Parts: sequence; structure tokens; C-alpha cells
Amino acid sequence: MSARRPLIAGNWKMYRTQAEAAALVTALCQRLPAQPAAEVLVLPPFTALAAVAQALASESRVALGAQNCHWAKEGAYTGEVSPWMLLDVGCTYVLAGHSERRQLFGETDALVNKRARGALAAGLKPIVCIGETLQERDAGRTLSVVASQLAGSLAGVSAEEMAHVTLAYEPVWAIGTGRNATPAQAQEVHAQVREDLGRLFGAAAALATRILYGGSVKPDNAAALLGQMDVDGALVGGASLDAAGFATICAAV
Ligand code: 13P
Repeated sequence: MSARRPLIAGNWKMYRTQAEAAALVTALCQRLPAQPAAEVLVLPPFTALAAVAQALASESRVALGAQNCHWAKEGAYTGEVSPWMLLDVGCTYVLAGHSERRQLFGETDALVNKRARGALAAGLKPIVCIGETLQERDAGRTLSVVASQLAGSLAGVSAEEMAHVTLAYEPVWAIGTGRNATPAQAQEVHAQVREDLGRLFGAAAALATRILYGGSVKPDNAAALLGQMDVDGALVGGASLDAAGFATICAAV
């Protein structure tokens, strides 16, 4: 048992127009109980943030976040979005270092670290993502890869700031493949991450930090994954685009 309130986050990736996004979040709200056991978060694409914020105007059960951010308040950074702009549109959370950013856009731990610290400096809560590739897992390197991503992505973050940080373990081989980690595989890595957190930030921060699992979380496997001692929530991709399915996952905590 722990005092960590589970977080169920829906990463909508590059899906949904403004109207579609507003309809999706409205349908989700209709399916949530008055007091969900989990904290619920949606992460629409940038262009739909304002529309979703508006749809959530009188709604306290669902938080809003973005999928990425720069670290500066403003500047000549074409194509980037500042954490202050995300606060301005109503976000409280932001992803940092999602594996698709790392794999497809070359983001390194050093860059992810800048994004996460920029988010913290602005008062946003970063969800820092880590996870090994299939090749790394097959080579028996899972725990060392994850430990090094963790240390690199959180370099310079203080134990106090960790109160605002969530981690997400997303094995790359499980993302969008329909092949989720088994509950035991997820628990093994999460327990190791918590141990690493203890070494980096002390026991109290390690105990308090939420570690989400992501990678083919579906309504039918969510309860088993979320039942693991060190799995404090889920970062859901494909299944978060279906309001009923996502609500079922939120209820599985
Ligand atoms: P899927 O749930 O579609 O596998 O995506 C996981 C993910 O990348 C969430 O951030």
C-alpha cells in the first residue's frame, strides 16, 4: 500500500482535430464517476489544447497536459512551444522525453533534461519517460539503460522538485505494438527505478514519486498491470482515443 494516488494519462499523440478532441474529452467526462479513484489526465496535440481546455472549463476531474515543451519562456525557437504558453492555455502537466521523441526526433537525455527542468521552472509537472528498445532488452541491458536514462533525464533536479515529477516507464517494444510488458516485467523495472530514485533523491522522494507504465495498456490488461506494487498509473496511447475504453482503464486502479 502506498499514498501515491494513481495517475491515468491519455497521450493522444498526433490524433484529433479541435472539434474531435473536444468531443472525445466530453465523452470521457460523461463516463467518469463523480469521484474517480485515479487522477485523470489527457494530453492532446498542441492545436487542440485550447479546445479541450474550453470543454473542461467547469470540470475538475480531468487535468490537461501537453506532449512536449521547450525550456525558455519565449524566444527565437521556431516550431517550439514554451512551458509558460502551456500554462497559459490551461495545462498542468507535460511529457518530457517520450520514446517517440527519443527514437524519431533524436532527443537525448541531455535535451530531455532541459525540457523537464524548464517545465519545473515554469510550474508545470513533467512526466519524464524512459524505456529500453527490444534490442537492449534482448541484450540483457534493460535495467542499465533505464537507470542511465533516469539519471541523465533528471540531472540537476532537486529532491524537493521531485514532488512535481512523475516518471513513465514505456518499453519501446510495447508501444503501439499490442504487446504489453507482463505485469511482472513492469514491476521488475518499476522496482528498480524506485531503488535508483532512492539513491539519487533519498528514500522519501523515491517512495512518493509516481511511476506510470506505458505500452499497449488496454481495458483488458490494465487491472493486472496497475495491481503491481510499484505501478502507480498508466500512460495510455491508442486506447485513450476511445472514451469508453479509457474510462474503463481509469476505473481499473
Ligand atoms: P500505446 O498505448 O498505443 O502502446 O502507446 C503507449 C504510449 O506511447 C503512451 O505514451
